[in-house]
Amino acid sequence: MPQPTDTYVAAIDQGTTSSRCIIFDHNGAIVAVDQREHRQIFPKPGWVEHDATEIWAKVQAVVAGALARAGLRADQLTALGITNQRETTVLWDRRTGKPVHNAIVWQDTRTSGLCDQLGGEVGQDRFRDTTGLPLASYFSGPKAAWLLEQVPGLRHRAEQGEIAFGTIDSWLIWNLTGGTDGGVHVTDVTNAGRTLLMDLRTLQWDSSILAAMGLPEAMLPEIRSSAEVYGTAVGQLAGVPVASALGDQQAAVFGQTCYGVGEAKNTYGTGSFLLLNTGDRPVPSKSGLLTTMGYQLGGERPVYCLEGSIAITGALVQWFRDQLGIIRSADEIEPLAASVDDNGGAYIVPAFSGLFAPYWRSDARGVITGLTRYVTKAHLARAVLEATSWQTREVVDAMYQDSGVRISSLKVDGGMTANGLLMQHQADVLGVPVIRPVVAETTCLGAAYAAGLATGAWQDLDELRAHWKRDTEWTPGMSEEARTREYGNWRMAVERSLGWHR
Ligand code: G3P
Repeated sequence: MPQPTDTYVAAIDQGTTSSRCIIFDHNGAIVAVDQREHRQIFPKPGWVEHDATEIWAKVQAVVAGALARAGLRADQLTALGITNQRETTVLWDRRTGKPVHNAIVWQDTRTSGLCDQLGGEVGQDRFRDTTGLPLASYFSGPKAAWLLEQVPGLRHRAEQGEIAFGTIDSWLIWNLTGGTDGGVHVTDVTNAGRTLLMDLRTLQWDSSILAAMGLPEAMLPEIRSSAEVYGTAVGQLAGVPVASALGDQQAAVFGQTCYGVGEAKNTYGTGSFLLLNTGDRPVPSKSGLLTTMGYQLGGERPVYCLEGSIAITGALVQWFRDQLGIIRSADEIEPLAASVDDNGGAYIVPAFSGLFAPYWRSDARGVITGLTRYVTKAHLARAVLEATSWQTREVVDAMYQDSGVRISSLKVDGGMTANGLLMQHQADVLGVPVIRPVVAETTCLGAAYAAGLATGAWQDLDELRAHWKRDTEWTPGMSEEARTREYGNWRMAVERSLGWHR
């Protein structure tokens, strides 16, 4: 019998810019990590694509890398969990296993016209009661509809059952479990809930929405819970149960152990996503938030969340590095920003993919306001970081309006939490402490926890809660007067970003 300390669970996090594999031990501590970036393809302004074949190759490489670093064999893994960038849409040929087009990434805005058309007279909220989501280019259903319209012959092939639709979880699980040789075609409730096609209450595809978007049911995966054995891996992970799937933000909720109503986390990645656990019933939003799935463990009742989705936060630092060339590596931004006392009056609204929560305005585009000759690249670096905390402040305000829950502290995770200047500013503009746990890789951790629960590696949520340990806490230091004045400036900058793209 393996001892508890010999239990290892692996998680794959297939994110927007890179893929990662992390192996955890029984205490939820990291044993080994491997990570690789993949190409970002920008065919036109507003369009963002990934090569799903490249993603699958990178995933296989990081799995091999993590096993090698841990000095483990696949048969020493109890389970494998999957977490992924959400909404990104892949269509592939079931017979050849090849994608029929590049994946259309969640940030891509090509379907905003299609969404306007679908909204018709009702507008953006046409499917909100059923799905919890506004009609926006962010979500997968319109992306699949666009592909069926634009790729010659594809609609007919989809109707014949030759084409499979999937978000990245489905694509990976299908490949991991055998691909053309018997791979299972499934998704979980958290990913299905981001397609604009799933009924939040029945957890099934909604046939009237499928009909409205012209999507044949034959192409869709089966919707399953977030923690159960979907199948057994073949190839390099032969024999390992594939036992969880969660969209990355929901995985972070799970990894941060936000299991109680009113617990919230914010994950700072390419974008930032603040989720609040609202319990076993969906709470409708009137303030521009999404009603979304939190997780569902096997046959248990699902847990729902309110979500404030911000499209561009870490990606603004990448843009500052890659497109403007002002810094050479992302970690140079903190000392540059810290070399000045404030933003010099400059604000950057990174509406590169329109504005998500709480505005949902696809006509917004990025703006820099408040420029004078006084402003230096150091002030701009500060404005880049502050854009993240002000956008977060806006979704926290919306959360309060919708739920009446005033957060008393915010659990944070993700790459940008390494930036102490940003975290301090975040605490300052929210007026509450910001807390980072020891394991800030909560996305992978959540997927591992769910897979471990499904396979008996961990017994229950209390056992997982006991693993959570505080690492750093930032306490607010800004005066109320300064916070109110600067928030006003930020809101004026946001006003100026609206209405550019028609
Ligand atoms: O909804 C998009 C989100 O899942 C992307 O997350 O971490 O890849 O930026 P991330």
